[in-house]
Amino acid sequence: MPKNQANTSLSATSATPQPERIPDACIVVIFGASGDLTKRKLLPALYHLEQAGLLPEKISVVGVARRPLQDSFAPDMKEGIISGGGVEESDPKLAPFVGKIQYHAMNFDDAAGYDALNKLLTSIDKKAGTCGNRLFYLATAPEYFSDIINYLGAHGMAKPADCTDGSDKKPWVRTIIEKPFGHDLESAKALNDEVNKVFDEDQIFRIDHYLGKETVQNILVFRFGNGIFENVWNRNYIDHVEITAAESIGIEGRGPFYETAGALRDVVQNHVMELLSFVAMEPPVSFEASAVRAEKVKVWKAIQPIHPADTVRGQYGPGTVDGKAVIGYRQEDRVHPRSQTETYAALRLEIENWRWAGVPFYIRAGKRLPKRVTEITIQFKLPPLLLFKDQQGKGAEGIKPNVLSIRIQPDEGITLRFGAKIPGPSMNIGSVNMDFSYAEAFGKSSANGYERLLLDAMLGDGTLFAHRDGVEATWALMTPILEGWKNTPVKDFPNYAAGTWGPAAADALLESEGRKWRKL
Ligand code: BG6
Repeated sequence: MPKNQANTSLSATSATPQPERIPDACIVVIFGASGDLTKRKLLPALYHLEQAGLLPEKISVVGVARRPLQDSFAPDMKEGIISGGGVEESDPKLAPFVGKIQYHAMNFDDAAGYDALNKLLTSIDKKAGTCGNRLFYLATAPEYFSDIINYLGAHGMAKPADCTDGSDKKPWVRTIIEKPFGHDLESAKALNDEVNKVFDEDQIFRIDHYLGKETVQNILVFRFGNGIFENVWNRNYIDHVEITAAESIGIEGRGPFYETAGALRDVVQNHVMELLSFVAMEPPVSFEASAVRAEKVKVWKAIQPIHPADTVRGQYGPGTVDGKAVIGYRQEDRVHPRSQTETYAALRLEIENWRWAGVPFYIRAGKRLPKRVTEITIQFKLPPLLLFKDQQGKGAEGIKPNVLSIRIQPDEGITLRFGAKIPGPSMNIGSVNMDFSYAEAFGKSSANGYERLLLDAMLGDGTLFAHRDGVEATWALMTPILEGWKNTPVKDFPNYAAGTWGPAAADALLESEGRKWRKL
């Protein structure tokens, strides 16, 4: 079947849109607003919601950071919305929206700053009619999370105040906490304890931007919104699963952060584990937050401790990416010249439950790989009998296992590889693809994933956010690996050149079981 033929009858307009829910009037307070995330992702996402008519009319955005940026903040955010959000300067909604952006300078450990912030928010409530509803977004470096949470608690800002518009509406206060949530199991538990002292669990939205990606949410629709796939989604039909999160970029000037993180903490504990849970979970009893989260946690808890021999770490040396020479990790700014930090991690794991027992899951994530691609590959078993061979036993050579590739990014879509008869007098078989492309079916989108998550948090819907149990379950899996790695320093770093597919040991991880990473 020609590429993309399968999708030609699909169109975005064929779907019946759900009636949209508009959040209550509210103030979005972003701590760490001078950072990259706010300008590149959060404000463009908020503006996309505004363009789509999904924000309340009465909304205010307050950026909070240490630097005195009062005059430059709103224009800078406007610039971010234009360049990062693909928005025209002439867009009629832009100027009024930018008019709703304010800035408050303070140190995160300064009590007086919280008093002043509280006064500012109350005065906005009065002027803008935001009625005490607050969304505190913690986009700071993780070391400030607990200070901010504790000060908000101590200043009575974590509990809803009465609505000032004279109505009997019950205002809400919620907090979104960015990753990394802790750096191991113990610190994640400690942070959870601190946050839970100040906020109730239903006020807390631990964000993982991967869950905002349409392609990630679509894994659940693909599995549970279709009648045919779930029947073969198990150990009887699936040989193995691969999850790749490859990036061609390096650490982008984030040396001090990355030195304390590494690939396992930065990407595997959160983004990759989320992908894995969506692929492996049982159908939830409903699409309610608690039901979805419960099934995810069951998957993580069913993963057996990962043996050191089933882990591979790598660090990039100098090399060539996209035709350009690039430096090695140890030469990056503010990175130790003998750094032991991994920029690549590969794991083999098994999920010990009735659906998955005996099916290996191979995971790899790394920086400075040949290209940016996040993909889930489900490889099915070969048919039990190879019927189509000629008298010399040939002809069956073309039979390859069916492969379902779920392309998370950047070429979003899903492909199913299957065998087809090559036209001609003999029964020769070749591999062909059925392909679904998001861009072709639904058009290109400028959304960055934060839109959905910001909207859900404003609506109080935690389905796509991590729960305390989930964060601790994934850290429980990663922490022994991290400790093991710490206790056995690597001698061969750097062990892959920038622009290659990672260390040879990662290939050996699959080769020892007669498998190969899928070429991406
Ligand atoms: C972030 C990591 O969480 O995810 C970054 O800190 C990484 O190191 C990024 O580059 C990848 O996100 P995306 O959406 O580009 O795949």
